[in-house]
Amino acid sequence: TEGPMIDTFGRAARDLRVSLTDRCNLRCTYCMPAEGLDWLPGDAVLSADEIIRLITIGVTELGIEAVRFTGGEPLLRKDLPRIVEAVSALPGHPETSVTTNGLGLRRHARALADAGLSRVNVSLDTLDRDRFAAITRRDRIADVLDGLAAAAEAGLTPVKVNAVLHPDGGLDDAPALLAMCLEHGFSLRIIEQMPLDAEHQWSRADMITADQVVERLSRDYVLVADTAPRGSAPAQTWIVDGHHVTHADGTVTPARVGIIASVTRPFCGDCDRTRLTADGQLRTCLFSTTETDLRALLRTGADDAAIALAWRGATWGKLPGHAINDPGFLQPTRPMSAIGG
Ligand code: GTP
Ligand code: 5AD
Ligand code: SF4
Repeated sequence: TEGPMIDTFGRAARDLRVSLTDRCNLRCTYCMPAEGLDWLPGDAVLSADEIIRLITIGVTELGIEAVRFTGGEPLLRKDLPRIVEAVSALPGHPETSVTTNGLGLRRHARALADAGLSRVNVSLDTLDRDRFAAITRRDRIADVLDGLAAAAEAGLTPVKVNAVLHPDGGLDDAPALLAMCLEHGFSLRIIEQMPLDAEHQWSRADMITADQVVERLSRDYVLVADTAPRGSAPAQTWIVDGHHVTHADGTVTPARVGIIASVTRPFCGDCDRTRLTADGQLRTCLFSTTETDLRALLRTGADDAAIALAWRGATWGKLPGHAINDPGFLQPTRPMSAIGG
C-alpha cells in the first residue's frame, strides 16, 4: 500500500477538496434558504490541527498533489492562513487554492498569498447589482469585485470566476461577465447547475446548458474549440478569438472561456477528486451516498497507518459517476454547502 490511491476504474485520486465550514455569509437562492441551514455544531467541525493531520497523511502517504479549500465560505475560518501555511509547506509543496464567494478577499488575499496559497476561484453569477442582490440575497457585489482585484494584486493567479447562470435571465449575464473577465485577465468558467441545492428545487428544464451558453456567447464573440488536452479539469475551454491574456511573467496567450458541463457532458471518467467535509467525512464523489468517517478515527486515537488504510479503501470503492442522467437518480441528502463546491 504505497503510491497514489487508485479506484476500480483506474482513476488516481490526486486532488483533495477540503470543506472548512458549512456556513456562508451569502444566501444564494440556488444553494440555501434565506434563513440559512442547520449549521454543524462547533464540536462536530474539525479543528485546524485535525485538518492539517488528515491532509498531511493524504500528501505524504496517499499521493495527494493539490488541495482546494472550500465551504460554505472558507474565508469565514479565522485559521485558514495557518492551515494554508502548514499544507503548502508539506513535502512536495502541494498546490493550494481556495474557492470563495469573494466577500472577504480584500481583507485576506495578502495574508493568504504570504501563507503560500497559489490561487483563488471566485463565484460571481452576474455583474448587475440588483440581480446579484436578488440571487445572493445580499447587496454585496462591490465587495466581490473589490475582492477579485485584491486577489489579482496579491498574485493569487490565475484568478478564476465561477458563474452559475440563473434560469431567469442568466444567459444574458454571460457576455458582460466575459467582457469583465477579459478586461481584467480573469478566467471565466460558466457552470451548469447540478441537483445539489438544499431545498431540492433543481429542475433539468430550468438548467442553462453548456450548448445554450456557447450559442449566447457566440453572438458577441467568436469562440474556437480548444484542442489542448483537458486532463482532469472540469471545464471544457474555448478560445476567444482576437483576445489575449498577459501573464505576470509577461507572456501572452490567447484568452479562453471555460464551460463546466457537469450534467450534459459529465467528466466523471477523468475525475481525480476526493472530498473531505467540514465534519471530517470523506466523500469520493459530490454525489456519494456513503461517507467514510475519518473524524471518528481521528478522535479515537487511530494512528496514521489506520487512517491511510481507511482512506485508500474508500477510494477503491469510488463509483463510476454521478448518475444525474439515470432514471431513478436520487439527490444526496447533504447540500452543496455542506459538501464543498
Ligand atoms: P480548478 O482547479 O481551478 O479547475 O478548480 P475547480 O474547477 O476544480 O474547482 P471549483 O471549486 O472552482 O469548482 C467549480 C465548479 O466545478 C463547481 O462549482 C462545480 O460545479 C464543479 N465541480 C467541482 N468539482 C466537481 C466534481 O467533482 N464533480 C462535478 N460534477 N463537478 C464539480
Ligand atoms: N451546481 C453547480 N455549482 C454550484 N455551486 C453552488 N451550487 C451549485 C450547484 N448546484 C457553485 C457556486 C460556486 C461553487 C463553489 O459551486 O456558484 O462557484
Ligand atoms: Fe454561499 Fe456558495 Fe452557497 Fe452562495 S453557493 S450561499 S456563496 S455556499
